[in-house]
Amino acid sequence: MALAGAVRCWRLGAGPSSLQMQALSLHMSKTAMGASQKDFESAMNQVKLLKKDPGNEVKLKLYALYKQTTEGPCNTPRPGVFDLINKAKWDAWNALGNLPKETARQNYVDLVSDLSSSDSSSQVKPEADRKQPGYETLVVTSEDSITKIMMNRPAKKNALTIQMYREIMLALEAASKDDSTIIVLTGNGDYYSSGNDLMNFMNIPPGEMEKEAKNGAILLRDFVGCFIDFPKPLVAVINGPAIGISVTILGLFDLVYASDRATFHTPFTHLGQSPEGCSSYTFPKIMGQAKAAEMLMFGKKLTAREACAQGLVTEVFPDSTFQKEVWTRLKAYSKLPRNTLHISKQSIRNLEKEKLHAVNAEENSVLQERWLSDECINAVMSFLSRKAKL
Ligand code: COA
Repeated sequence: MALAGAVRCWRLGAGPSSLQMQALSLHMSKTAMGASQKDFESAMNQVKLLKKDPGNEVKLKLYALYKQTTEGPCNTPRPGVFDLINKAKWDAWNALGNLPKETARQNYVDLVSDLSSSDSSSQVKPEADRKQPGYETLVVTSEDSITKIMMNRPAKKNALTIQMYREIMLALEAASKDDSTIIVLTGNGDYYSSGNDLMNFMNIPPGEMEKEAKNGAILLRDFVGCFIDFPKPLVAVINGPAIGISVTILGLFDLVYASDRATFHTPFTHLGQSPEGCSSYTFPKIMGQAKAAEMLMFGKKLTAREACAQGLVTEVFPDSTFQKEVWTRLKAYSKLPRNTLHISKQSIRNLEKEKLHAVNAEENSVLQERWLSDECINAVMSFLSRKAKL
């Protein structure tokens, strides 16, 4: 159908503003006469091939120019006040006044040509080209309205160094302000993350333990605080085993997708430490007191399917198709109305925020004490000396 050629996938919520009309007439000043009927037909075909939805404003321009080219000035009655879509289309066409058919045809061809070139320049670029600069321990990329924050220390199982905590906070801060709809945290390599880098406990000068424990607790409080306050949908894409803090913060995510190779382990007691990431509050809420105790107190490691059955994980995918299935799903979700999605997230989360910050503060003050305990120091020393014993 010719109309479908002019405006593909027509959906419109409101009529064009005067600004939109100004943009329309601005575009017209660019006109250079000479597009043939053949150019016009080929432009109509090109519109159907556009990969990126050009948006309602541009679709209105295309529609108006198409009608002006094929039928001349608008001479039909204005649709009724409740017929919003047809009224917007009529207004766009009518705004072209007595624009000659040839000029409208040229403008249509020019507009499609602009759209086609920006469409092809927005095609998927290699990840290296999309990588945001400034991060040493992460790879941060944005595509399809999704900002992906990938922990990038695969040789160390993505153990979280102090620098990595800081870079994740910076990446979240930037992502909260960029134009992305969804934010993803994932890991590079075979692990999602092995949790806190136990080397963070090393190289502390004698007499500085208390001060460093305090600094560590502040860093951890701020890190978890970023997740509590994060305003957009947060998705964890758990590509492999997850340990410690990388598990405990999952209660602050909106979706958790896991490969069936992933496991979930919080061996705090074994390390002389105590739960963080608000898990002392979120885990009992998510999975019930008894299951939460088994994980957080007794260090039971869950498979992905067990974690899903207990409500910690949204869905589990076979490892062989994990990336493909998850990213297809996320790309579809990222096309949902952005502001509505963010507002929904905030209404789901805001009621709990104050409580979560209080839990975060309490957990970190307990941890600060634990880090100074013999049980913790001995457990960390035992991990760090284990290679020497092999
Ligand atoms: N802190 C510091 N280093 C870590 C680490 C962590 N959390 N996780 C992994 N690494 C390091 C290992 O020391 C090793 O370093 P090396 O190559 O210089 O020797 C490297 O990453 C690879 O880990 P490795 O232990 O050789 O691999 P593995 O497959 O045998 O075991 C783990 C992987 C994650 C099970 C094991 O490293 C481990 O138990 N890590 C500690 C996890 C932990 O207790 N986290 C804190 C929770 S609160």
